[in-house]
Amino acid sequence: MPDDYFTVQLRKDVLDGLASAPRSLPPKWFYDAYGSELFEEITRLPEYYLTRAEQEILTQRAARIAAATRADTLVELGAGSSRKTRLLLDALTEAGTLTRYAPLDVSASALSEAGAALCRDYPALRVTATVTDFEAELALPPGDGPRLIAFLGSTIGNLDPAQRHVFFTGLRKAMAKRDTFLLGADLVKDAGVLWRAYNDSQGVTAAFNKNVLAVLNRELDADFDPDAFAHRAVWNAGQQRIEMWLRSRNAQAVKVRGLDLTLEFERGEELLTEISTKFEREALTAELARAGLRVSDWWTDAAGGFALLLAAPAAV
Ligand code: AVJ
Repeated sequence: MPDDYFTVQLRKDVLDGLASAPRSLPPKWFYDAYGSELFEEITRLPEYYLTRAEQEILTQRAARIAAATRADTLVELGAGSSRKTRLLLDALTEAGTLTRYAPLDVSASALSEAGAALCRDYPALRVTATVTDFEAELALPPGDGPRLIAFLGSTIGNLDPAQRHVFFTGLRKAMAKRDTFLLGADLVKDAGVLWRAYNDSQGVTAAFNKNVLAVLNRELDADFDPDAFAHRAVWNAGQQRIEMWLRSRNAQAVKVRGLDLTLEFERGEELLTEISTKFEREALTAELARAGLRVSDWWTDAAGGFALLLAAPAAV
């Protein structure tokens, strides 16, 4: 990545996203050091079931995954704190095939913190972290044998259908025949359960949502007042996704000095900061098939709210 990649990308995203109607920003800008910390806190909230559900499945299935994939390299997309990864690392170490862990993430701080701990706890493992935006260009680190590419936490839900198609086909192209893809996906469920997961009683999700404004203030010399915006998360039943918005409490003008720009917000005007798509088995399996990926295993937690699937390049 060129040194200025992220600033250039952020400027572009802000110019594109804040000029369009409705205004929107890509969710990757939540994850500065503080935002990554807030997300970690979200994963421990009683209402936010996703992380625990995925952990439950991984606990039960990691040995099967290790035996089925015999991976020599674990590539993790959007690794973050790599906490869940340990279940996979343990199983693949146990199976005796793993030599390398290659986490990819947009957050350098999350990678270096997690990387240091992993090097300490798995001294035989080669850890090669990459700060990258794999949405823009997916270059998989090479392996000496089969690679297991893991994309956990239902981060895939941040992409809309068109973006997912680009992502899945790009991934398929970057995969060798012997590689496998492990995907965590949150499932469509009771709207109340979904709503509460993004409207927690402690307000951590609200703080996470508003943190993107602090990122813009710092990186682009903007003067957003986070208190002048309200957190709103809603279930969009038609598109089967939770949407997070920031709603302007008043009519206001915000200066973005770094872009020589003044943004006018009407009272009640909203800015879309994240989509969190929820999936159904048949549709997701079909989506992957359209990208040349065949689902071989589909596991859920006991509550049936979250899925972990294994897919491989389809024979052509
Ligand atoms: C990390 C993208 C999967 O969409 O549930 C948590 C991020 N947003 N609470 C999600 C998030 C609000 C999370 N992902």
